[in-house]
Amino acid sequence: MRPGATPPRVEPVPVDADAQTVAVLAEAFADYPALRYVIGPAGAAFQERLAALLGFFVAARRARGEPVLGVRSGEAWVAVALATLPDAVASPATLDDARERTWALLGANARARYEDLGERWGRLLVREPHVHLNLIGVRKADRGRGLGAALVRAVVQRSIAHPTSRGVSLSTETEANVGFYRALGFELRGTLEVGPGVRSWVMFRPT
Ligand SMILES: CC(C)(COP(=O)(O)OP(=O)(O)OC[C@H]1O[C@@H](n2cnc3c(N)ncnc32)[C@H](O)[C@@H]1OP(=O)(O)O)[C@@H](O)C(=O)NCCC(=O)NCCS
Repeated sequence: MRPGATPPRVEPVPVDADAQTVAVLAEAFADYPALRYVIGPAGAAFQERLAALLGFFVAARRARGEPVLGVRSGEAWVAVALATLPDAVASPATLDDARERTWALLGANARARYEDLGERWGRLLVREPHVHLNLIGVRKADRGRGLGAALVRAVVQRSIAHPTSRGVSLSTETEANVGFYRALGFELRGTLEVGPGVRSWVMFRPT
């Protein structure tokens, strides 16, 4: 952020802006290695498939009442983050239906790759209660203005305010992001190959 600039205002994103949340994430994750690996290479249908999976992730946060945070530029949401709180929330039946519909669209092979990836991430899982930063994305035109950092700090605040949370975990599949998170107090917990040519860096920020 430029010295003297107003700090970005992080707010809960209202449900009626979910389509914008998905659009911001779909732009941010268009080239993202883990999602390319799970749902297939770039091609005509890639963005549509990506939006379907991201739409499911957003629906999951809504169904469980978990944080969907964002920053606006004017009226438009341009940066968003999804997080999971430590309290285990049962998956409502409507979400199970949405999950099945999503994987029916994306295919059994994509589902198998996703589940394998989840199993590999599980090996580096943080065991103590914590907040997980699932996804964070900033519109290309709005990067480098401190919006991503403001969102991460807001998720860290959720952990600090939570009675049992011991910190914030995340994984990134882009090595360049490791420096961004280190600067925000995250330490590297481990790194592993999660798919052919796809590496994951698992990080934790104690609070
Ligand atoms: C990663 C991402 C969320 C960062 O958001 P952003 O709003 O551009 O980042 P900020 O402007 O808040 O950057 C904060 C600081 O981190 C630095 N920074 C940003 N990206 C960095 C990187 N990849 N490596 C090292 N430092 C980085 C900035 O220079 C800035 O430093 P400064 O405060 O000294 O100027 C954004 O680039 C993005 O959406 N990327 C694509 C999707 C993605 O990779 N998401 C994360 C998946 S884990």
